[in-house]
Amino acid sequence: MTEGVAVVTGGASGIGAALAGRLRHDGMQVTTFDLDGADMGVDVTDEGALAEAISAVEDAHGAIDVYCSNAGAAAGAGLGDDPDWALCWALHGMAHVYAARRVLPTMAERGGCHFVVTASAAGLLMTLQSAPYTATKHASVAIAEWLAVAYGDRVGIHCLAPQGVRTPMVTGGDERSRRELRAAGALLEPEAVAGAVVAAMASSEFLITPHIEARAYEAGKVADRDRWLAGMRRLRDRL
Ligand SMILES: NC(=O)c1ccc[n+]([C@@H]2O[C@H](COP(=O)([O-])OP(=O)(O)OC[C@H]3O[C@@H](n4cnc5c(N)ncnc54)[C@H](O)[C@@H]3O)[C@@H](O)[C@H]2O)c1
Repeated sequence: MTEGVAVVTGGASGIGAALAGRLRHDGMQVTTFDLDGADMGVDVTDEGALAEAISAVEDAHGAIDVYCSNAGAAAGAGLGDDPDWALCWALHGMAHVYAARRVLPTMAERGGCHFVVTASAAGLLMTLQSAPYTATKHASVAIAEWLAVAYGDRVGIHCLAPQGVRTPMVTGGDERSRRELRAAGALLEPEAVAGAVVAAMASSEFLITPHIEARAYEAGKVADRDRWLAGMRRLRDRL
């Protein structure tokens, strides 16, 4: 996209900040939403606050052409506690639904728009570190797939599923998480991930895997789940 109006959630940091920077560089009018440090302070898990913020962007700049539902958090070690699960369901599940409810009907009427859900390779596979993150990122993928069937002939629906990306979520995490990410593949820079998103919007591709090996890992999982689970247990032991 070289013009138009974009919103990026989780836009104060990491992948969201890189996406916002890339879309601005390409000529779009971008507004970032985040808890702190963004153009607008918005908690994307609060449907009313999110709808109000989207209305404010539309009033100021016009209809939204690109919406990147990107905010996320690495919450919940191991099986996690109830607050971890609640946060992950809200952030990796309902925040995408709230945004879709608010922006997709208009996008479908107008045509030529894009809605990007940031999931994770953990939503195709898993992260050993967190059951809540794994399960709710699977939900992000499922929501994006559902939207792609419901709206995909009128709106470009995309699902971003990276492995490790050099952002505060990873650099601020524990050494075991970083070892797991290194075992899976290279840590990419957020700007490279933003470039992959822009390329997928141009080519109308649904699944964005900036780490190309994630596709082979997923194919291996689907082909033989018992073999894949045994491999994940070996990885668990190695780490
Ligand atoms: N970094 C990675 O290796 C990696 C890999 C796969 C997927 N992801 C996903 O990419 C997305 C961006 O993560 P990142 O790596 O840039 O991390 P990050 O921590 O740098 O950025 C995430 C941003 O989301 C914001 N956020 C959290 N809860 C929010 C809320 N309720 N409302 C509004 N904003 C909120 C945070 O304040 C933060 O600025 C996340 O969805 C994450 O799960 C990251």
